[in-house]
Amino acid sequence: MPPELSDLKRLAREAGQMIRAVEPAGRSQHTKDTSIDIVTETDRAVEDFLLGEIRAGFPGDAIIAEESGGSPGEGNGAWYIDPIDGTTNFAHGLPLFSVSIAFAVAGVIQLGVVYNPVLDELYSAARGQGAWLNDIPKRCTQEDILERALLVTGFPYDRFSNPVNNLRQFNHFALKAQGMRRLGSAALDLCYVAAGRVDGYWEMRLAPWDLAAGWLIAEEAGAVVTRTDGVTDLLKPPHSILAANPALHAVMLAELWSIAAAL
Ligand code: IPD
Ligand code: CA
Ligand code: CA
Repeated sequence: MPPELSDLKRLAREAGQMIRAVEPAGRSQHTKDTSIDIVTETDRAVEDFLLGEIRAGFPGDAIIAEESGGSPGEGNGAWYIDPIDGTTNFAHGLPLFSVSIAFAVAGVIQLGVVYNPVLDELYSAARGQGAWLNDIPKRCTQEDILERALLVTGFPYDRFSNPVNNLRQFNHFALKAQGMRRLGSAALDLCYVAAGRVDGYWEMRLAPWDLAAGWLIAEEAGAVVTRTDGVTDLLKPPHSILAANPALHAVMLAELWSIAAAL
């Protein structure tokens, strides 16, 4: 039996309970491949918990997970797991992080949940059925004028050494939009588009587990979601993202193309 949205919600809430239980002791940091890319014991413990539950309940499904890499499957079901999206915030005690869980069939995301355990905000979506925040239906904004739009973005961990670091794009939009934010959780950024808290979001060089659940949640709330080059399959690398209501998406995509053309 494939999972239902209630299964993903239960997993996210239980993972969130684990995170709340270890605060603040579970925040101690270890660096990963770059000096600013960190992981905590809690990231690993939450991922171990989620993988154990999925393997027990849904054997045969593939798992793509941040900390362990996951495991191949036997059928066409696949789970995308980010145990804590926004680890830097978590490690500093800033309550903007989330557990992100998505389920796809044959490469198409069908279910997604993103849970902020501190604010007890559970975003969810099922393909073709809508998007919710704590079971209240949500829609993205209709703002289509950049000068009135609040935008959010993020930057990759290797930005000190890699020139594809989004700073050019950030400078460009900073001089055009009403406001710019860098909140630190790609999954929540997408949910904030869905909930109408921000008007648009873009980011470059993410990983599939960062965006899989939030992608569906934003789309089900009425947003158009593509890569920053307009390609619609976000699971195809490079995993960039642009999410906004249809009119603002077109405006932002044209701006991103103009920046790329000027390089
Ligand atoms: C990061 C966050 C951040 C984004 C980074 C991601 P992590 O995920 O989503 O907002 O800018 O690119 O890697 O490391 O906290 O799971
Ligand atoms: Ca992440
Ligand atoms: Ca993470």
